[in-house]
Order: sequence, then C-alpha cells, then structure tokens
Amino acid sequence: MYQIIDGKKTAAEIRGEIAAEVAKMKAGGKRVPHLAAILVGNDGGSETYVAHKVRDCEEVGFRSTLLRMPATVTEEELLAKVSELNDDPDLDGLIVQLPLPEHIRESRVIETISPEKDVDGFHPVNVGRMAAGLPSFVSATPAGIMELLKRYNIPLKGAECVVVGRSNIVGRPVSILLSQKGVDATVTVVHSRTRNIAETIRKADIIIAAIGQPGFITADMVKEGAVVVDVGTTRVEAPDTKAGWRLKGDVDFDSVAPRCSWITPVPGGVGPMTRVSLLLNTLKAAGR
Ligand code: GUN
Repeated sequence: MYQIIDGKKTAAEIRGEIAAEVAKMKAGGKRVPHLAAILVGNDGGSETYVAHKVRDCEEVGFRSTLLRMPATVTEEELLAKVSELNDDPDLDGLIVQLPLPEHIRESRVIETISPEKDVDGFHPVNVGRMAAGLPSFVSATPAGIMELLKRYNIPLKGAECVVVGRSNIVGRPVSILLSQKGVDATVTVVHSRTRNIAETIRKADIIIAAIGQPGFITADMVKEGAVVVDVGTTRVEAPDTKAGWRLKGDVDFDSVAPRCSWITPVPGGVGPMTRVSLLLNTLKAAGR
C-alpha cells in the first residue's frame, strides 16, 4: 500500500517553525523579515500567486510590500524600480513576478536583482553558486522538493533518480541538487528528445515529474515500490467544480499510486512546499 507525501501538512509545520523564529526575532528587538514583490500588469495567474505570497508573509509575521506597475511600464522604468529596491536597507528579499509583458526582457530584470536579495534564486550568480555547491538562494520548487524528501526520510544516497523535464526552474536545478555530494543520488534527466523514455523512467527508485504534461507518467513507466514526486500543476477543465477547472499533475495518480511506496498528490504535494520555500529564503536573507 502506498503512502502519501503530504506537502500541505509539511508546509504548515514549516510555517509554524518560521512563525516561532519571527516571534523570537521580535522578542529580541530585531526587525522582522521583509519581502517585496513587483507585479507588472494584471495577469490572472500572477495576481493569485502574488496574493498567496503576501498572505503567507502575513501568516508567519513577515512584512511584505506589493508594488504594482502597469503592463505598459518600460523595461528601463522597471529596472530603475528594481535598483531602487536593491538599495533599500529596509528590504530583505525582492521578487519580480513572472511572466513579464513581451516587451520586457526577463533576463535583464533577473540579472538586475541583487543576488543578496534574490530570494527566488533566479539570478545567474545564485544558480551558479547552487551548481558549485556554495551557499546560495535555491529557487522555490527545487528547494521545496528537497525539503520534502528530507522530512520524509526518503533514502537518496545511491538511489536511482530520474528527473523528467529539464526546465531552468525545476528539472535542471533539482537534478543538480540530487546529485550533490552529501545527497549522493544517481541522477538521469530525461526530456522530449530522450529515446526509450518509458524504459529509463522504469529503472527509477525516485521519479521527479516536471514536464507540465498532465497524466504523462503512467503505471507502466513506474517500478514497483518507487517514490514519485509530481511537480505538474496544469489547469484542466472540470465542469463539476465551482471554478470550472482543477489542477492535474504530470502523474496519472490513480493508476500510478498503487505501484508506489510514496507519492505526492496534486494538489497538496509540491505546490505548498514551493510557497513555503520562498518564506525560508526570505528568513535566510534577513539573517545575513
Ligand atoms: N512565476 C511563476 N513562478 C514564479 C516564481 O517562483 N517566482 C516568480 N518571480 N515568478 C513566478
């Protein structure tokens, strides 16, 4: 029988730990961590994500500042705002919600954020430091996955891990973290150009599914007793729900779960851990 890796519960525990830490800071007369988020335009998904981030900050006792800029803002204006916030000693962490309007180059924006305040871990300095095994801000989803595996004592040393997907924000960094000295998993990254993808995934003790194709991982690709981490969060139509949609992971949960030792659900698996990782990074930034 499989067991559920409960990201929702774990994230709530971690928020409790962070709140206790903040209470200690306050009692000691220290300032509390302060996160600033820049939201450009009013993309529906981004509005929701940023609202969650602000609410998470409130829950643990952080300060947060939401700065809105119109979709028509120029790249120069946005970069000037980022530079201003970089220099604001009152702020510990700074994020610019992505995606940005077409006329703004995301890479320029990310590279303008001070690496010391880059709690998203997107700046090439942080990506490079992470890859080199140096102290860094690790982006939220890979950090959340690693924390979840750690808290559930999933054995990683020498384990055969297959990471499905090679994106800059999930697949690539999580593959680096899993193979790091001290973690010591054996990692294979598979992607859209991989031959015999099913055969490779079937060898895995641990599968990290991060391709953004709902239901891609089916039972025939999963070894008996495998650990499955589902990073997918695609909105699929669901006329029976109030919203008209629901989240579907990259794993066909109903067929795959019976083959697993452990599996993360969607929702309630990796997603809540991603949110809490941003708080952990902000706490770390404030401690520096
Ligand atoms: N858009 C989707 N995910 C993220 C994230 O983790 N950080 C930022 N800044 N934008 C996003």
